Order: sequence, then C-alpha cells, then structure tokens
Amino acid sequence: MININTPKNIILTGFMGSGKTSVGLELSTRLDMQLIDMDTEITVQTGMSITEIFDKLGEERFRDIETAQCLNLSKLNNIIISTGGGVVLRKENMDYFRNNGVIISLYATPNTIYNRLETDSSRPLLKGGNLIKVIEELLILRAPFYRNADLTIDTENKSPSEIALEIIGALKNKYYL
Ligand code: S3P
Repeated sequence: MININTPKNIILTGFMGSGKTSVGLELSTRLDMQLIDMDTEITVQTGMSITEIFDKLGEERFRDIETAQCLNLSKLNNIIISTGGGVVLRKENMDYFRNNGVIISLYATPNTIYNRLETDSSRPLLKGGNLIKVIEELLILRAPFYRNADLTIDTENKSPSEIALEIIGALKNKYYL
C-alpha cells in the first residue's frame, strides 16, 4: 500500500468508457481509500437504473440528482470518486469537488471508447444513431469541460494499474510531498 497522507478526495472525470471505475478500483486498493461510484450510488438511492431515470424523469432531473450528490460527496474526506461522464457539465459540481479534492481527467480516443462501449446498452446518451459519430461529436462538445481538471492522463494503451501508478506518481510530486 502507498500512503499519501491527505484528507483530500481524488475525483476521476472523463468521458463514458474512459476507465474511471476500473482506474478508481486500482487506486482504491493501492491507496487504501474508499471508492464511491456516482452512478452506482444514484441507482441505489433511486432504485432505478440510469436508463430508467433518463426515460422516466428526464436528463435534467438526473443532472439535479448528480449535483446533489456532488455536494454531499464533497463534504467527505479521503475518498475516491468515480464520477459520471456528464458531471463536468455543471460548474457548481466542479466547484464542490475542487474545494476538497484533486480533479483528475482520464482521456481516451473516440476509437477506444467505441471499442469499449460498442456492445454496451447502459448509456442512454449513446443510444441510436452512428455510435462512433455520436462519441466524436459529444467528445468535441465536452473537451473544454474535461480540460477543467488539475491533472489530465492520457490512457491510451495503458492498463488500469499503469494508469493508477501514473496518477499516484503525479499526486506525490504535485500535491502531497
Ligand atoms: C453520462 C455518463 C454515464 C452516466 C449517464 C450519463 C454522461 O456515466 O452518468 O449515462 O453524460 O456522460 P459513465 O461515465 O460512468 O458511463
């Protein structure tokens, strides 16, 4: 276990399929910090899948639930938060997290994301249409939001454990030593 002595949270952002949850799990083991996956929390809290929430309540209501969760999670210490890919879209979400944490953005190319999500039907925003085009267009729209991070990690051709080690190295150098 690597001990980074900090009350700060580690917040993982990035597009759907960029590896936030698998990298979060690696970080959680290596740093002995609890991982909280926002989508999982929301499904437990509402008793609905993300798709059901989008279908029944609409995206705006889902975003409101996310924002309430960002505020609550930002009050905790020493946790790793795997965010939903759209959390970056609301400035207040990032303000809450930045107050008490370091924001790390994971980058993957449209092709990599496509390969990972091609057979996945759990993302309402990627349903219908030409998947690679939808990914490319959403990524272009969201790029400025993902750039609004303390650290950006290019995840191409790296395993979750390699990415976690890269993050730990950067955190030690930049923030905690
Ligand atoms: C979304 C990303 C999803 C989930 C929802 C909306 C987005 O989370 O929150 O489908 O807007 O990018 P993942 O990034 O974990 O797939």
